[in-house]
Amino acid sequence: MSAVVSTKRVTVPEIRAHKNDKPVVCLTCYHAHTARLLDDHVDLMLVGDSLGMVMHGMENTLGVTLEMMIAHGKAVMRGSKHALVVVDMPFGSYEESPQVAFRNAARVIQETGCTAVKMEGGTRIAETVRYLSERGIPVMGHIGLTPQMIQVMGGFKTQGRTEAEWPAIEADARAIAQAGAFAVVLEGMAEPLAAKITRDIAIPTIGIGASAECDGQILVMEDMLGLNPHPPKFVRQYASLGADIEEAVKAYAKDVRARSFPGKENVYSMKKAG
Ligand code: KIV
Repeated sequence: MSAVVSTKRVTVPEIRAHKNDKPVVCLTCYHAHTARLLDDHVDLMLVGDSLGMVMHGMENTLGVTLEMMIAHGKAVMRGSKHALVVVDMPFGSYEESPQVAFRNAARVIQETGCTAVKMEGGTRIAETVRYLSERGIPVMGHIGLTPQMIQVMGGFKTQGRTEAEWPAIEADARAIAQAGAFAVVLEGMAEPLAAKITRDIAIPTIGIGASAECDGQILVMEDMLGLNPHPPKFVRQYASLGADIEEAVKAYAKDVRARSFPGKENVYSMKKAG
């Protein structure tokens, strides 16, 4: 019997083929050990710039650099074999022009080995999405609540709460799809609007705080595992790892203080002479 394990990754056309089919399972991932754990169970891992807050304790994503994204992208690629890995383009790395975006995205692809990049924005970045897609860089869009625009939006606010806001957001979705993005994240969006966009555009929509009707869902992994003491309201908790870690650390501290380590005589015993 062959012991060869397939190392074929999920491809961009395979993600596109989920449109109106089985939901796409996505999670964020920033490091090798968790990538290994997620790999067989998700279709797509996003090395999101949310790592600025989650991994680096930043207040928002604006301070995240291309170097940080590349370092975490490499780690996730090393830890995974199956899922399609998408790396976020951080604030300041793609907005200036399609050419600058291409150069930086090509660096991300070449240095990490990931398959695709994600960029925030709708109509205003459509030309860039087209430029990259036509030159071999698959792009995932991200519209609705776009955290890199936090200073302009004045906070993290659900988008499309009044129907008057809908046409602009729908135009963003159409522009990104028509420019060649292979999927688009709909974040923090009124439910009926996200459902309507999902019905209206030809590429998979990936919801986060949007609608169960989306073609897939994504969450920040640490939020759904209970590691964030203040997760967004829409996040369903699948584990309480924060509490588990605290309990484990308490037990460890107790053992250290009691000089109680199982097997310590083996670990620390000195080699007998002769
Ligand atoms: O940075 C991130 O984690 C994201 C997801 C929330 C979609 O963009």
